[in-house]
Amino acid sequence: MLIKKAPDIRSSEITPKSVYLRRREFIQASAAALVAAGFPSLVDEAAAQGGGLAKLPNVKKSPLSTTEAPSLYEHVTSYNNFYEFAPGAGDGPKNNSKNFKARPWKIKIDGLVNKPGDYDIDDFIKPYALEERIYRMRCVEAWSFVIPWVGIPMADVIKQVEPNAKARYVEMTTLHDVGKFPMQRTDVLEWPYIEGLRLDEAQNPLTLLAVGIYGEVLPAQNGAPIRLVVPWKYGFKGIKSINRIRFVENQPRNTWQKMAPHEYGFYANVNPNVDHPRWSQAREKRLPSFVPNRKTEMFNGYTEQVAHMYKDMDLRKNY
Ligand code: MTE
Repeated sequence: MLIKKAPDIRSSEITPKSVYLRRREFIQASAAALVAAGFPSLVDEAAAQGGGLAKLPNVKKSPLSTTEAPSLYEHVTSYNNFYEFAPGAGDGPKNNSKNFKARPWKIKIDGLVNKPGDYDIDDFIKPYALEERIYRMRCVEAWSFVIPWVGIPMADVIKQVEPNAKARYVEMTTLHDVGKFPMQRTDVLEWPYIEGLRLDEAQNPLTLLAVGIYGEVLPAQNGAPIRLVVPWKYGFKGIKSINRIRFVENQPRNTWQKMAPHEYGFYANVNPNVDHPRWSQAREKRLPSFVPNRKTEMFNGYTEQVAHMYKDMDLRKNY
């Protein structure tokens, strides 16, 4: 994510990208060496594996998964946007989060609900069945991944906490703690990071509170210990390291809307027909490619599941 800079001076991306590309060359060279040495199965295995973090138990597969092949774990965990650790996309969040501890962690549910609560994260997760959902993900800056998430359908949580008749939106907040998130000492963004969904969007069967990727707990840079996943929306809606979920009457103002309201809206639905003011959204780069190598689909290909929620809305105005 970038704020009001000409597209040709994206200096914040240059260093991380070059580091990332070197890493990619290394992985490709290692894979080629394994194949040459007669170990192609090890390459397949490496592609299927996570990063050696704790495995999540009792994860059931979901029919809502795409059949597209997941991206490599190495790529999904080395090219991130997470301003609490580093500004701009690249491997800064991975490098700067090595000492991050996702436990202990509290999560608060409050606002217009019958059953508010303060939970320890593990007590919060425990009652719910974990699902693996392989989703296409599309960032507003036009890169994309396919990620096997593990998480809790947000609709299950909402049913449990019983929003009252006044609740129309859900506001989510990232923990504000400069001890854990070094960049919160700076003013690159307004802290804490905030995101929101309309209640029906939060209840959509696709909406997930993710606690893992590739069958393992989330690495810090991907939003440990719990983050939002809404695959028909641009990546910035997927708020990381959530510690509060509040049910409210009025539409929350999300962080990127506050930073650059003409560029980033509340809805942020993936839409190849509505350009960003500074670039086209018609195509995307499926990483590790850095050239646009595929067309972007309306609602990121999830039209059937989500279009009904926006049928009376002008998606040019509600970007
Ligand atoms: N959440 C917090 N708290 N802080 C952030 O900077 N960046 C957002 C989103 N969630 C961000 C965040 C942006 S811009 C994107 S594209 C996605 O996280 C990236 O998620 P990923 O790194 O898992 O691909």
